Amino acid sequence: MPDVSTPPAPNPVRGRLNSAFFALTAGYTDRRLAVHKRRLFDRPGVVAEIGAGNGPNLRYLPAGTAVHAVEPNPYFHRRLRRTAAGHGIDLTVHPVPGEAIDLDDASVDTVICTWVLCTVRDPAQVLREVHRILRPGGRFAFIEHVAAPGGAVRRTQRLVRRPWRWTFEGCHTDRDTAAAIPAVGFASVDITEFRFRSGFVPVRTQIAGTAVR
Ligand SMILES: C[S@@+](CC[C@H](N)C(=O)[O-])C[C@H]1O[C@@H](n2cnc3c(N)ncnc32)[C@H](O)[C@@H]1O
Repeated sequence: MPDVSTPPAPNPVRGRLNSAFFALTAGYTDRRLAVHKRRLFDRPGVVAEIGAGNGPNLRYLPAGTAVHAVEPNPYFHRRLRRTAAGHGIDLTVHPVPGEAIDLDDASVDTVICTWVLCTVRDPAQVLREVHRILRPGGRFAFIEHVAAPGGAVRRTQRLVRRPWRWTFEGCHTDRDTAAAIPAVGFASVDITEFRFRSGFVPVRTQIAGTAVR
């Protein structure tokens, strides 16, 4: 069993390239995800964001929001801090993995994550941590790409699985995240499936939703 509290050191070349890639494509992805993000990140209170990356979600939060960004990859931190400053977010960066979050039990109102449960080493452990740090009645809001039910998208996900995982530092094209989220004991879970219409076929099947502790 790997020790998930000490993840492998991020690769300095791929780490920088990934941060640059997500910065370059942020406008493109945002146009497709904005409708979900506006709905999901409403009235957030104190926020923890798992795998905050360059901070593409911060623009959806009111200026002055306290955000604890759980981001173990240091190659994202510079852009993340810059984005937070640009949107008036009160940011604290936690350079730890989502599997071992250094926040107290029931200490945040909202946890958000987008395109992260595909990449973490142990999604069930991250979800247990999300549940632990949320206050009772607090909300977990997420957008994730998931395994397609079948057909050409599923075949493409299988075909590119290995190079995709290498390039995007651990990203799995075909996790069943919609089943993993209800399994940790939230009071209620609401999940919508949608298509991410773009040239990135392996991530076409996506889910957006909320889970209440
Ligand atoms: C595909 S990027 C998504 C970044 C951002 N959420 C977005 O929507 O653009 C995946 C993110 O998950 C982070 N990540 C990888 N493993 C993680 C872990 N174990 N815990 C928390 N974040 C992790 C990566 O460093 C990266 O920032």
